[in-house]
Amino acid sequence: MTAQLHARGDVAVLVPAAGAGLRLGPGGPKALRLLAGEPLLVHAVRRIAAAPSVRLIVVAAPAAEVDAVRALLAPVAAVIVVPGGAERQDSVAAALAVVPADVGIVLVHDAARALTPPELIESVAAAVRSGRPAVIPVLPVVDTIKEVGPAEPARPDHAPVDVVLGTVDRSVLRSVQTPQGFRRDVLAAAHASGLGAHTDDAGMVEKAGVPVTCVPGSELAMKITRPLDLVIAEALLHVT
Ligand code: CTP
Ligand code: MG
Repeated sequence: MTAQLHARGDVAVLVPAAGAGLRLGPGGPKALRLLAGEPLLVHAVRRIAAAPSVRLIVVAAPAAEVDAVRALLAPVAAVIVVPGGAERQDSVAAALAVVPADVGIVLVHDAARALTPPELIESVAAAVRSGRPAVIPVLPVVDTIKEVGPAEPARPDHAPVDVVLGTVDRSVLRSVQTPQGFRRDVLAAAHASGLGAHTDDAGMVEKAGVPVTCVPGSELAMKITRPLDLVIAEALLHVT
């Protein structure tokens, strides 16, 4: 079960890659969709493997694709592939379960952030190593953000519309990316406590009262979610 990468590395990277990619439209699981002729997961794993801190990579693949993903990644890097679960959190838990006890730092990194540079992996890992129990990469929010609610009273002859309830102070908001880094015991405890559904891993440890520290994110760590993101990612390939 050991698939060691950099012998001096002290970090395991868990790669949830078991999602359906519904927002990307038809074409199969997102991690296996092609970008410049290669699956997103290959782009992602190649960059993770290039980070010298990484001792181990565990990929949570769509259950029906475990063997295919193993074969796909064999020439890219030494990885462990496990079947993912119904929710992202289940996929992360399945990957965490196979990390050997002597690995003290665990990063969780979406396969969908396929162009994330190795330097960002290193900077998150370094912040955890320096004593931060939980670390997230963040970017400032560029759009103005408004809180909205349904217009009252709803007019039966019209489609429902929203009205603005207020404008949020953007200066205190951040967009959150992956990799998110954790002391292993902190992430394991958050998963064991079953703290409800969260859209990221830091949300879970945050709920448990653990301080979460921010480091600067990267535009290259964008999440490929909708069809236009694939076009943007293809253009970004030329600057990476
Ligand atoms: N993921 C996973 N297991 C799931 C759901 C998501 O491992 N049950 C992974 C995805 O493969 C992706 C990452 O979590 O790498 C972020 O999720 P998201 O961008 O939402 O991907 P999908 O769930 O595949 O896309 P969609 O929500 O559009 O279906
Ligand atoms: Mg999803």
